[in-house]
Amino acid sequence: MDIDEQYKKINALVLDETEMRQLGYEAVDLIVKRWSNLHKDVAWRGADRKEMERLFREAAPEEGTPSAEILDCAVNQIMQYAGRIDHPRFFAFVPSSPTWPTLIADMLVSGFNVFQGTWLESAGPSQIELVVLDWFREWIGFPSTAGGVFTSGGSAANLCALVTARASYDYSGDPVLYYSDQGHASIGRAARIAGFKSYAVRSIPTDNEYKMDLDVLQEMIHQDRDTGYQPLLVSANGGATNTGTVDPLQELSGICKKEDLWFHIDAAYGGFAVLCEKGRAALDGIDLADSVTLDPHKWLFQSYETGCLLVRDVSKLESAFSTNPEYLQDVQMGDDHVNFSDRGLQLSRSFRALKVWMSIKTLGLRVFREAIQRSMDLALAAEDYIADSVELELLSSQNLGIVCYRYNPAGHELDSVHIENLNIEIQKQILSSGYAMVSSTRLRGSYSLRLCVMNYRSTLNDVLGTLRSVEEIGRSILS
Ligand SMILES: Cc1ncc(COP(=O)(O)O)c(C=O)c1O
Repeated sequence: MDIDEQYKKINALVLDETEMRQLGYEAVDLIVKRWSNLHKDVAWRGADRKEMERLFREAAPEEGTPSAEILDCAVNQIMQYAGRIDHPRFFAFVPSSPTWPTLIADMLVSGFNVFQGTWLESAGPSQIELVVLDWFREWIGFPSTAGGVFTSGGSAANLCALVTARASYDYSGDPVLYYSDQGHASIGRAARIAGFKSYAVRSIPTDNEYKMDLDVLQEMIHQDRDTGYQPLLVSANGGATNTGTVDPLQELSGICKKEDLWFHIDAAYGGFAVLCEKGRAALDGIDLADSVTLDPHKWLFQSYETGCLLVRDVSKLESAFSTNPEYLQDVQMGDDHVNFSDRGLQLSRSFRALKVWMSIKTLGLRVFREAIQRSMDLALAAEDYIADSVELELLSSQNLGIVCYRYNPAGHELDSVHIENLNIEIQKQILSSGYAMVSSTRLRGSYSLRLCVMNYRSTLNDVLGTLRSVEEIGRSILS
């Protein structure tokens, strides 16, 4: 058999046009159906490992299966066992609810197989990433020297920020990182990866509003200097994952300037609140940072994996990450032609900015602003409901869409162990009911339920219905 004969025989990798269309249309129909019925679906469906092994374990098949069968298995079996992160009553962790143009952009980027590591291979997509990054830059108030990069998410962006900070200073002693005891775990992990010594990563206590204690911070900086360490970087919360708290950004900027420290703000989940008035006020001072992490896949309604890092002086980001190997000599087209692989961890990278560009161009920025404002209003309504309830106890007021509370009915005088067990049971029951998904955390060691309102589909009924259901379950357990 000659080599082309062989090619024809083996090239079942190429589907014929009719089959491609049919499969694509069917997939789109299934997604539209899912989206239209999301509010009637459960918010979560899980299973244990044993069950998943039983259903899905198999060896890689040597021969193919009709595509319709595979599509059906992916949609109606595999993905059924998952949280519906975009369900209107999914209030757990940090939800994500992409818009339709986002999803189409995702599909287009795969279909056109964009490689956006270098300008040579993606002039148009690279220009759009620059344009969208400039939108973000203007929204947070960074100067024109600023620039950034799209990443897989907030964790990757935080890591790139720490690496950039390290590369931007000459230091002799161990560089020290300061972040609040409410900081996201990805900061601690990034510090480990970036080579900060564990004894040089300082957790700063927070006050009764969960904001970084600035006196302790300054004291630690001075102590570290006195003992030969090199204070390098402060990472502040622009929306802490636990409580939504924003650290005192103006004051922190002053301290960092005075002490010559890099000022990073992890605004992964909260940062896009700058798009509405109340959020802008809550994030006052975000424009003073040296770097800011933003996650469009959280409060800018994009699909995973869309994260972003902005750096006040983009040349520092490029100095930290650029490479120039001989096999990429062709991609050097001059300073004006950004190779995004020089701004982060990835050489092969996708065109994530298209999702943001297409959704904002199609729907207009105004509806994004309104949706963010509405999330904050709904969280405030939740706070009011909790404050008025004789069964619920408010543990932290709403900040940027997050409220913490627990079931602790008046008149029962429950001790702390009882309250904790009761709330663990409530969380378990609400999860298995499928009605809503709520998650828990600990505040100063105490078990807390937590509501994160961040979905443009959620209504007041969804929010209050979830709180009522917590009350009902609590009542039924106690009765
Ligand atoms: C404040 C904050 N930083 C960082 C992250 C990590 O982001 P990602 O999950 O996109 O890696 C999160 C995730 O919830 C977060 O809330």
